[in-house]
Amino acid sequence: MNSRSKVSSLLAELTLEEKASLCLGSDFWHTAPVERLGIPAIMVSDGPHGLRKQPEEADHVGISGSVPATCFPTACALGSSWDPQLVQRVGVALGREARAHGVAVVLGPGINIKRSPLCGRNFEYLSEDPVLSGVLGAAMIHGIQSQGVGTSLKHYAANNQETDRLRVSAEVDERTLREIYLAGFERAVTQARPWTVMCSYNKVNGTYASEHAWLLTTVLRDEWGFDGLVVSDWGAVHDRVAALVAGLDLEMPPNLGVSDAAILTAVRTGQLEEGVLDTAVARVLQLIDRAAATTEPPPVLDADAHHGLARAAAAECAVLLKNEGHLLPLRPAAGDTIAVIGEFARTPRYQGAGSSQVNPTRVDVALEELRSGVPDQVEVAFAAGYGIDTTDHDEELAAEAVALAGRAEVVVAFLGLPAADESEGFDRSHMDLPANQTALLSRLADANANLAVVLANGSVVRIAGWEQHARAVLECWLSGQAAGGAAADLLLGAANPSGRLAETLPLRLEDTPSYLNFPGEAGHVRYGEGIFVGYRGYDKLDRDVSYPFGHGLSYTSFEYADLTTNLTGRHQDGDLVVNLTCRVTNTGGRRGKDVVQLYVGDPQASVARPTRELKAFAKVELDPGETTAVHFVLTPRDLSYWSTVQNDWVLEGGEFELAVGASSRDLRLTTTLDIAAPPPPVRLDAMATLQEWLADPTGSTLLRKAVGADATGRPNGILGNEELMVVVGNFPISTLAGFPGFGLTHPMVHTLVDQVSRSDEASSGGAA
Ligand code: BGC
Repeated sequence: MNSRSKVSSLLAELTLEEKASLCLGSDFWHTAPVERLGIPAIMVSDGPHGLRKQPEEADHVGISGSVPATCFPTACALGSSWDPQLVQRVGVALGREARAHGVAVVLGPGINIKRSPLCGRNFEYLSEDPVLSGVLGAAMIHGIQSQGVGTSLKHYAANNQETDRLRVSAEVDERTLREIYLAGFERAVTQARPWTVMCSYNKVNGTYASEHAWLLTTVLRDEWGFDGLVVSDWGAVHDRVAALVAGLDLEMPPNLGVSDAAILTAVRTGQLEEGVLDTAVARVLQLIDRAAATTEPPPVLDADAHHGLARAAAAECAVLLKNEGHLLPLRPAAGDTIAVIGEFARTPRYQGAGSSQVNPTRVDVALEELRSGVPDQVEVAFAAGYGIDTTDHDEELAAEAVALAGRAEVVVAFLGLPAADESEGFDRSHMDLPANQTALLSRLADANANLAVVLANGSVVRIAGWEQHARAVLECWLSGQAAGGAAADLLLGAANPSGRLAETLPLRLEDTPSYLNFPGEAGHVRYGEGIFVGYRGYDKLDRDVSYPFGHGLSYTSFEYADLTTNLTGRHQDGDLVVNLTCRVTNTGGRRGKDVVQLYVGDPQASVARPTRELKAFAKVELDPGETTAVHFVLTPRDLSYWSTVQNDWVLEGGEFELAVGASSRDLRLTTTLDIAAPPPPVRLDAMATLQEWLADPTGSTLLRKAVGADATGRPNGILGNEELMVVVGNFPISTLAGFPGFGLTHPMVHTLVDQVSRSDEASSGGAA
């Protein structure tokens, strides 16, 4: 029996009570079984960067433990890899661990846009850009689901802060939703088909995401073709019946005794059609069936291999922000001393707190890894320098570190955010490193100019106040259980940095586009910066930043050349494609990886558009002297904006700027391309303006004919007075009909609207 007929025959046998029970979990992590019909319960578990399978006494926020599992780099790190193949490999490993532990669905990836550096959960999210988030989110889904384990793409939608997250209403206009906050979900859903999507806690424009029919049904299912199950975030349902009607299939955890009773009453009183319930139940059964379809025996896990992958992945995620005089990689000679300073070198911080917190199988310590990685007769000396549970200055620790720095050849300072600074559940109030760390840094620099900083933080920290003290800065994010090993590999040159910033590093918090509106107040957060999130905002305002989106250095160098474009097809025929090719050469002395980024701008747009937007990227690996060709393909959607007038994506014909670069502000090759597209239709009615009527060929002909001309051919009324037309061109024609001497009357307007709509019908093949 195929899955669909199995689901419908089960549906026919279920009682109303059983159906209601299936739309709620049976406990924190399981769906409800129906033993009578052999319907098993399946288990779901967090989380995006490692499995967090909790024992029975679940608390869901990571306080009680979970089974040991590989803690891979968190999303903020994976986002910086710009490497979908790598993310997919991590997903495969995560899927294997889930299968081995009998978990049917992994609750991730989380792809919410990093709207502000302050969001407490930024470490769980990939990027400030929807293309990067969508591509990498899709890769994670592909990886996990390739193992017969489902995913839950979360948190849908506009969940970009922790402040008041269970109640706040994100006030976002539709264009901004479509272009920024939904676009990554759209890509991941359409390209990777997650088994489930998790709705967010918050409201979107006044309606809880869990009750949002437009989000959960119109957009997700009707437009994007999602055929999986929608699950609530844990505790996101407030009205079970309204949520069912909107398209929310499974409530977690079960609000037992309340939600099932509400469903039963609603069906019995006719308030809820049983068919709506059946649809949700069918989706739950389909999910259970998908999980059961994997009949292969659970894999035997190789913890060492997964740790190795975690280490390689962490190395790919680190972003080398600066490297003056090629201070890195370190090249210690026999007899040298490397001063490793900072408690984080000994007590690593490698993941964030909350529901994603993994119980690692083991943890690499950077200090030990450096000690075992250096050549003989090189001393790796350590001083803690500061305490991590306090921002208070400890003079004894600082003095010891400064003395060590003074006698070493080179200093590596491990700095970062204390665990208490960033977590699920609350937002940060600033983006600074603790004062005891930055104060120490300036003294270390006075003692030794050969100073490199290694950072551990989940969301960007301000570096403008202190980066002048460091010749090199390596941003390692929260990079999972092997972060310490990866840091040693990078510092000693066993690995070559290839991460790129997935979010802009601003000079100050006050510069961030969302600053004036984050995190809102009185239950509302207004997304006032609109589409100008992250680099889209900094670039539009021409604001200096510490390091731009897409930035990251390597121990080698790359040159770009020979950008060619080739346009085929026509937009109006539906087959327009723009092909771009360029060549990238490794011009340095080491094998390394570069991320080639393609940005598109539409300077002639009739609506406000970002200066440039990332549309594609490719990570390439090259030997010294090696050259490779990189190809990109753009479709009309990549050139379009969301038009709230057309209620659709609109490609405006004209000149586009295409730029290939090594960051959003390091554009190496640029070109312009003229792309023809018919103007979008304008609805010509009585409220359309004189200019709009005249801009439309049919409208203009009809209007000119109606107004008429004198014997010399000069148009009558307003059409004969060009000066006045400039002033009143933006008046609706129904208003102009009320002005004497303009040659228009209300009956004429009526007839014109009638004529133009009939001509529209005729050109679209008739009204029938
Ligand atoms: C989080 C989700 C998580 C769920 C289950 C919620 O509080 O927002 O991301 O998957 O808990 O732990």
